[in-house]
Amino acid sequence: MSKLYLVGIGPGSSDYLTAAAINTAGSVDVLVGSQRALDLFPGFEGQTLILRARNMDEMMKKSIYLVDEGKNVAILSTGDPGFSGVLNPILKLRDDLDLEVIPGISSLQLAAARLQIPWDQVNLLTLHGKGNSKIILDFMDNGKPTIVLPDFKVEKLAQFLLENGVDQDRKVAVCERLSYPDERIVNGTLKEIAAMDFTYLCVVIIYETF
Ligand SMILES: C[S@@+](CC[C@H](N)C(=O)[O-])C[C@H]1O[C@@H](n2cnc3c(N)ncnc32)[C@H](O)[C@@H]1O
Repeated sequence: MSKLYLVGIGPGSSDYLTAAAINTAGSVDVLVGSQRALDLFPGFEGQTLILRARNMDEMMKKSIYLVDEGKNVAILSTGDPGFSGVLNPILKLRDDLDLEVIPGISSLQLAAARLQIPWDQVNLLTLHGKGNSKIILDFMDNGKPTIVLPDFKVEKLAQFLLENGVDQDRKVAVCERLSYPDERIVNGTLKEIAAMDFTYLCVVIIYETF
């Protein structure tokens, strides 16, 4: 029987790909993923479908269609499929598929490791694709650091927090392009971060107040 695999590929560098991800991706008929995800499997000889922000829904449906047609399909998900990844949209589309999730190292985990933060003691949140929601304000003062995937622009998130009364001197770290050769970790105050420029591949840590 054909199967749909949701494969976590880690934050981007092949150093953080698991053997389970490599073996699964090598065993299917069709690989679906962003170009940067597909680039991690240069030897793959089956069919590939490129996932873009604008064709997500179409590609999810196409993947399910191909499984129904008898193909084994793997959708490559950055980080872990279960955190702001492809697991949720797939479960919303169909709950009767033969589905297997191969976990990956989340960008949140790598950010916590880089900053030596025990991540069982943090607020974990994603604003990805949701806009700068006031939900984040509910967590900000509960005595724990908040690790958040921003909605596209870090500086917009920082400006939103300032506009909503968060202290301009609050300590923030931005982990940009984790695992890539040009990885950058920037520490600053909320006000400083709001005035900087970052790419969209960032994890933001807002430290607790003491
Ligand atoms: C759709 S979410 C996927 C999150 C993913 N499932 C995970 O567990 O890391 C994409 C967001 O994850 C974050 N992200 C993914 N890879 C990253 C990396 N290498 N460095 C920093 N942030 C990353 C960015 O905030 C990016 O906009």
